[in-house]
Amino acid sequence: MKPKVFIATSIPAEVEKYIGEHCRYIKWEGEESISREDLLRILAENTDIEGLMLTFHKIDRELLELIPNVRVISNVSVGYDNFDIELMKEKGIIGTHTPYVLDETVADTTFALMLAASRRIVELDRYVKAGKWKKGSDKLFCGYDVHGTVLGIIGMGRIGEAVARRAKLGFNMDVLYNSRSPKPDVEAKLGIEYRPLEELLKESDFVVLLTPLTPETEQLMGEREFSLMKETAVFVNISRGKTVNEKALIKALEEGKIYAAGLDVFEQEPIDVNNPLLKMENVVTVPHIGSSTAKTHNAMFALAAKNLVAACTREKPPSVVKELAHLLEV
Ligand code: DGY
Repeated sequence: MKPKVFIATSIPAEVEKYIGEHCRYIKWEGEESISREDLLRILAENTDIEGLMLTFHKIDRELLELIPNVRVISNVSVGYDNFDIELMKEKGIIGTHTPYVLDETVADTTFALMLAASRRIVELDRYVKAGKWKKGSDKLFCGYDVHGTVLGIIGMGRIGEAVARRAKLGFNMDVLYNSRSPKPDVEAKLGIEYRPLEELLKESDFVVLLTPLTPETEQLMGEREFSLMKETAVFVNISRGKTVNEKALIKALEEGKIYAAGLDVFEQEPIDVNNPLLKMENVVTVPHIGSSTAKTHNAMFALAAKNLVAACTREKPPSVVKELAHLLEV
């Protein structure tokens, strides 16, 4: 009998067809993203599930104990901070994600936020649409250049490289980076320079946070870090909300310690409508859409489906998260 899986997200028809060729499946049909409550309820009603495909939902003991036969959790995202890695190791459950296919799209989003925040694009869009444009308005709203400035990237993985390439080739920027350890091969390839975090924060006109969320990077950016940045600097977060102490960010923006912020991710998602960040003209927000283009989403779903099917049919999934790769060794 084909293995049974739960697709806890909406997916393109051809990806659903592919899964159906290899697995029996049930699928979340709700218009909104599935709630934790519904997810647990459906799993409790389908305890024979061997594979689960989802995005951003917390994978913990309560959930895994409902589905004792589960072999794989297939995330439709590159980040996998929703996994309890130690627990998955203990239970021998494979965790997969969708690297590579979204790098260039997330790098585009990073630049969109840098440009929008520094040139006040969203604020001025609202200004024009509100009928406030007068002769001479162009003199009132000067922002800061992106080209020819210094970009500091925190977290130099594949997306960091894609951002650095755009900065060097398209915007003539000097690029600094910080990561767990220096990467001489990437430095030579892209002409970028390593800096300890403090120095990167002091020297950069744009600070872009791209690091995965781990116990080491949680609240990496706090009051002290923002106080080291230039008053004219723009901060962009496209990693995870919890890599930033949001109260410290709000304070830094309110007190003019930094010029502006472009934010794709937040401590709480969806963000509370009363969050002070939403009241600030110098903050550009988007709802965690770093990888959201039709082409890239299709590629992510296709890869997540391959991971799901492979693990359920005892094949090697193309992208197992590195901490769990040993589970495939015989
Ligand atoms: C991911 O895939 O982890 C990103 O957050 C998508 O934007």
